[in-house]
Amino acid sequence: MTMRVAVAISGRGSNLDALLRALPPGAPAEIVLVVSDRTAAAGLAHARSRKIPATVLPDPADAAGWLDLLRQYRIELLVLAGYLRLVPAPVVAAYRGRIINTHPSLLPAFGGKGMYGERVHQAVLESGARETGVTVHLVDEVYDRGAVLAQSRVPVLRDDTAQRLAARVLEVEHRLLPAAVLAAAAAGRPVPIEESPVDSHQSRSRAKTPNSRPPGSNS
Ligand code: GRF
Repeated sequence: MTMRVAVAISGRGSNLDALLRALPPGAPAEIVLVVSDRTAAAGLAHARSRKIPATVLPDPADAAGWLDLLRQYRIELLVLAGYLRLVPAPVVAAYRGRIINTHPSLLPAFGGKGMYGERVHQAVLESGARETGVTVHLVDEVYDRGAVLAQSRVPVLRDDTAQRLAARVLEVEHRLLPAAVLAAAAAGRPVPIEESPVDSHQSRSRAKTPNSRPPGSNS
């Protein structure tokens, strides 16, 4: 059976595009709804060009609005792909274990409220870290805190700028997130990924056991 997926975005939507490319007709998961908190989100065009319903939430903090939408489209998996708002707690509770997020760092490092976009990569560079990466994790009530499902490492290069690092991390994200969605579709729910299909020269993801992090640390 095909898993019915909704994707939430706030901006460019390159991860949404990567997911759409990884899920051609007949794939075990289908994106049946795209949601945004912003009318101006450029990524909405990826949905519209493929005739996928694309909705701008009138109030992203309104749990009832979210729940109506997710139920109307019989959503089984909600993917946050560059969605910058907190999903309302009643929605997290109703879809516990069925909402995943991608974050462009090795959580719990460089996560939490306000840690998104170039800020993440700038902070990595300023810290002197030798590696960063991508994390796909379950979503709970706190930004970037839920159990890790998959991580892939990306080396920080000597002459990196935040933009160059962001571009290399994004490339990895475009493979890890679809892999996590396909694994979820195969298992019927989001599951840890044992081996990620990411380039071995660039990163190697190890077997993962879901682990919870302390509060405080999303996007
Ligand atoms: C991604 O790196 C995502 O992890 C982060 O914001 C970026 C969104 O990129 N939260 P896009 O909108 O998918 O192109």
